[in-house]
Amino acid sequence: MTAGVTEQMRVAVVGSGGREHALATVLGRTAEVLVTPGNPGIPGSVPLDPESLGPDVVDLVVVGPEAPLVDGLADRLRASGQRVVGPGADGARLEGSKAWMKELFVEAGIPTARHAAFDEVEPALAFLGTLGDLFVIKTDGLAAGKGVVVTESRREAEEAVRDYLSGAAFGEAGRRIVVEEGLVGPELSVFALSDGRRAVPMGAARDHKRIGDGDTGPNTGGMGAFSPVPGCGEDLVDQIMDGAITPTVAALARRGIDYRGFLFCGLMLTPEGPKVLEYNVRFGDPEAEVVLPRFTGDLVALLAAAADGNLGAASASFDDGAAVTVVCAAPGYPTAPVVGSPITGVAEAAALDGVQIFCAGVQADPDRPGGLLTAGGRVLAVTGQGPDVAAARQRAYDAVDRIHFDGMQVRQDIALSGL
Ligand code: AMP
Ligand code: GLY
Repeated sequence: MTAGVTEQMRVAVVGSGGREHALATVLGRTAEVLVTPGNPGIPGSVPLDPESLGPDVVDLVVVGPEAPLVDGLADRLRASGQRVVGPGADGARLEGSKAWMKELFVEAGIPTARHAAFDEVEPALAFLGTLGDLFVIKTDGLAAGKGVVVTESRREAEEAVRDYLSGAAFGEAGRRIVVEEGLVGPELSVFALSDGRRAVPMGAARDHKRIGDGDTGPNTGGMGAFSPVPGCGEDLVDQIMDGAITPTVAALARRGIDYRGFLFCGLMLTPEGPKVLEYNVRFGDPEAEVVLPRFTGDLVALLAAAADGNLGAASASFDDGAAVTVVCAAPGYPTAPVVGSPITGVAEAAALDGVQIFCAGVQADPDRPGGLLTAGGRVLAVTGQGPDVAAARQRAYDAVDRIHFDGMQVRQDIALSGL
């Protein structure tokens, strides 16, 4: 640790998607930022071994995705004396084991769906019989966001129980499952930043998980998002901080876990009040692309304070406007994305007022200097900002209209429910 937060710090962001592009953009307002491995659409991308990011290389490391956190990257970097935003492997169990997360909820009195964890078929099938008419089966371990079945069909639920527990569906990640009651209501994602003792709210958003308009078709990592969410203002966020996030940080601390990093609280707003569906131990994607552009202030100083375990009285502030992010996805996504198509119109779209483009699944086009080809399922996240959701939405879609690649999939109804 060489530089104080008042000098220009050197910050490394670990990851390669739109979330990391958004983090790097906002951190880049006040720091020198490198992204590793990044991608050819993110300035400052450089392929480095994340394990090498000690205090001799950068002053702060921000880990984007969950997998390296679950794998203990933050622990190893901290052992080298590095400041890190992202929990150690102990705290990352919040995302890495749903059964463990649920135990913590019960202990801390955090409202969540009625549930039980199983590693054998018969008791899991018996528990299904005690639930209402919407059944939810989840892998205990990480399953790349695909390990959840929500169904009204008892037979389908029973099949999922068998397929998961046999290892047929998700291998080891499914050999332990959580079975729970289905909840209904609008979903909300609330973000927070913890220093191990205290958490500050970091914005809220709603994403669109299904591939198709009108929430049809298979689940994806997220096809778009908007922020703020009408009806989900400061009062509701305060209620969620007091009822869920602050007790979670306290319950972690009671277990000896010094959680320094982002908390992504996924909730359902049920008629009985907000209930927590899950935590992720990172920022959301594409939620980062819609929340972070609205951040006002010095994100570097805030993240460094959290990494130092010393948020003090700091808080995060956001502009009064709105942001809407529309994802441009490859054909075949989410099942089997077809990649390698030239992408055009990005520079023209990015030049529009109130528009930012965050690059995710892209690769350099060997035939066009500076040009990009598609390289993954979610290719670009296009963010529009404006005084309200309608204006932001208009800007995002105006930008998307200028972008082209073969078979591009774009939902046309992002943020319509936020107008
Ligand atoms: P999770 O990975 O736990 O967030 O689950 C992914 C998605 O499955 C959530 O965003 C919800 O849309 C849905 N889901 C999870 N748990 C429940 C539940 N108990 N009731 C209804 N839907 C759920
Ligand atoms: N958009 C949901 C996620 O980041 O998991």
